Amino acid sequence: MKLNLKVAPPQSQHKTCLIIGAYEGGQLTSAAKDIDKSAKGLIKQLFTDGLFKGKAGEVLPLFRSAQDFNHIVLVGLGKQGALSPTGFRRLIVTAAKSLSGTETDTITCYLTDAEVQGKSLAWKVRQIAEACSDGYYCFDLFKSEKRKNHLKQFIIALPDNKQLKACETALAEAQAITHAVTLTKNLANTPSNICTPSFLADQAKELGKQYRDIKVTVLNETQMQKLGMGALLAVSRGSAEEAKLICLEYHGGKKNQAPVALVGKGITFDTGGNSLKTPDNMVGMKYDMCGAATVLGTLTAAAELKLPINVVGIIPAVENMPGGSAYKPEDILTSLSGQTIEVISTDAEGRLILCDALTYCERFKPDVVIDIATLTGAVVIALGTHATGLMSNDEPLAKALLKAGIESNDRAWQLPLWDEYQEQIESPFADMANVGGRPAGSITAGCFLSRFAKKFHWAHLDVAGTAAFMFGPERSATGRPVPMLTQFLIDRVNHEN
Ligand code: BES
Ligand code: MN
Ligand code: ZN
Repeated sequence: MKLNLKVAPPQSQHKTCLIIGAYEGGQLTSAAKDIDKSAKGLIKQLFTDGLFKGKAGEVLPLFRSAQDFNHIVLVGLGKQGALSPTGFRRLIVTAAKSLSGTETDTITCYLTDAEVQGKSLAWKVRQIAEACSDGYYCFDLFKSEKRKNHLKQFIIALPDNKQLKACETALAEAQAITHAVTLTKNLANTPSNICTPSFLADQAKELGKQYRDIKVTVLNETQMQKLGMGALLAVSRGSAEEAKLICLEYHGGKKNQAPVALVGKGITFDTGGNSLKTPDNMVGMKYDMCGAATVLGTLTAAAELKLPINVVGIIPAVENMPGGSAYKPEDILTSLSGQTIEVISTDAEGRLILCDALTYCERFKPDVVIDIATLTGAVVIALGTHATGLMSNDEPLAKALLKAGIESNDRAWQLPLWDEYQEQIESPFADMANVGGRPAGSITAGCFLSRFAKKFHWAHLDVAGTAAFMFGPERSATGRPVPMLTQFLIDRVNHEN
């Protein structure tokens, strides 16, 4: 699909499918006004007749209803002045979804003229492009009947040329982000009988071939054993699949510039191990590698945008299985850092593979380290599916991530890592326990990781609620937090210049 910008009134695009907006109460956007004029009051009449109310997210397709216009999709924008950034994105996804099953091949979207609280034209351009891609997304690799995507061109209409440069930049960012988000979703949606640790390693190597600036190395279990990654390897012991430690290095910046390290939880399936999950809780656990998929996505976005920055991606890829050779509750493990860990639950495996990956990160002398993990069910209880849980040992880093989340419409919310919480993971037998009880489960998981992140500025993103919708017919990976992290990298580049 081609993405384009165009300064053109709706009349000149009448052969394409037009997406236009109107507010609750009957106020029209400028594109809707134009069409209303040339179509003899068509839009206003819909309001008068009560056929369209303009409620946020309302979508009304109009086919050949006025002489010249083939296909119009009228979108409700809600009360004028009240459209939020996330509300804006949602209604575009809805409109795109309504078109995704049709044979429409060209769309011109006029929703750039919707008022969104405090947002620029360029911001709207990027959101429209990303939301369209979200609405059209479909994972049918394993369906006998594939859905044909008829859409060839998606045009975003601009009111004039005044902010063309900023809009072009936004479009290029959108292109890289949608590409990365789609890659992340596809990997995450791929089930664990195919998406194994070795499969993830092969995917990373593919990216290394595709992008000249990305170098990929993969460690096997023997190599990890030699290093002393006792925590990561314990999690892998019950699995017939060999664990992999996948390292990607994107070199876009100066040679000696300290990199940003992204560490992604890559549990390709989480049964819970010997602390076995219930069947209900096990569904959705193919998504336990969403952090890993996010790292792969974000690195490709950086490479596609040729960002002048160095980024390292570290992916511990492991399958968590029960069985006779699997690790058990009350086992004591020695991590790569030398710190010992008493296993309370083999279902708190994410932190065990991440702690060794974090220690491994030290060798890259990173400026900041951000881990991304579907780490705790507790974060879904705390924040639901709307915000990623953010914890950090460095306030400026936390602030930069929160800001990038707001800018990219992929938000996080910070939780505290106060010393008091550390007490919950004390163990009578080892340096720490891998579980701190039910209270503040996401924070104590963060506390656990913080003990392996003392040597750098570090942030932890718990994406258990945001990376995938695990239930219902619309279940799918979301590609989050690729937009936030890509924005974070873009912001870093812009601040350094
Ligand atoms: N992968 C899960 C967390 C998860 C739960 C992700 C639900 C997405 C949806 C993680 O490995 C896990 O099992 N966490 C346990 C930790 C507990 C044993 C301390 C949990 O959240 O129940
Ligand atoms: Mn688990
Ligand atoms: Zn898990």
